[in-house]
Amino acid sequence: MITEPNKINKITTHVLREMKLLGRKIAMLTAYDYSFAKILDAAGIDIILVGDSASNVMAGHTSTLPITLDQMIYHATSVMRGVNRALVVVDLPFGTYQGNSKNALSTAIRIMKESGADAVKLEGGKEVLESVERILSAGIPVMGHLGLTPQSIHKFGTYVVRATEEKEVQKLIEDAHILDNAGCFGIVLEKIPANLAAKVTAEVKTPVIGIGAGSEVDGQVLVLHDMLGINIDFSPRFLRRYHNLNEEIRGAVTAYINDVKSQKFPNEKEQY
Ligand code: KIV
Repeated sequence: MITEPNKINKITTHVLREMKLLGRKIAMLTAYDYSFAKILDAAGIDIILVGDSASNVMAGHTSTLPITLDQMIYHATSVMRGVNRALVVVDLPFGTYQGNSKNALSTAIRIMKESGADAVKLEGGKEVLESVERILSAGIPVMGHLGLTPQSIHKFGTYVVRATEEKEVQKLIEDAHILDNAGCFGIVLEKIPANLAAKVTAEVKTPVIGIGAGSEVDGQVLVLHDMLGINIDFSPRFLRRYHNLNEEIRGAVTAYINDVKSQKFPNEKEQY
């Protein structure tokens, strides 16, 4: 049974299910390295997602497609060194699970063995069911991801809000039930109408984590570099900026450059 959030030793998929039942909101953020993961974990974040958004915010690509499995494992391994309490979920990168469930399983096994992470996430519904089932059958917890699925950007052509038309709404509801019944421990719903996300959340047993999916879901996720204001090139309506680190870091770096050039750094006390 859950008592106080800071008394939970380790967040597990069972704890998340209990949080949903008790109506306690789940807080999730991305992280890709040891230092940030350590800060997030100490602050009490419930889930850390080693997202394939690393492809954008860490590597500077314009989509999530180029990141490789080895690169995801490198990020996940670094994150795991900084985490004691949070549940760590790692994205299966594009091309490692679609269309071949045996590949999907070996990808998931590599991630779990080499990084020590707790779970994996993949995008899609019915079309990836065989992969979801095969990974689950090996005892690896799986999180689904529906709505705006960035790995399919070339199919959709734009990052606009998803599931606004009846056919897509029906498919999303059906996919959420498919993932729920298959045994996924959570589902991310990205950039869909709030009323649709609320309906799905009420219908499925598994915790639903929203990003641009309104408030009536079981938890929220944001990309760390976006919410900290490190990455300022991306400002969708759903993004709340909790800091303006881009400006702060530039200010600090400018001060350092000026100190070096004017010989104010190092001073007497900063040398041996
Ligand atoms: O890769 C990622 O950061 C994600 C989140 C947007 C949910 O999948």
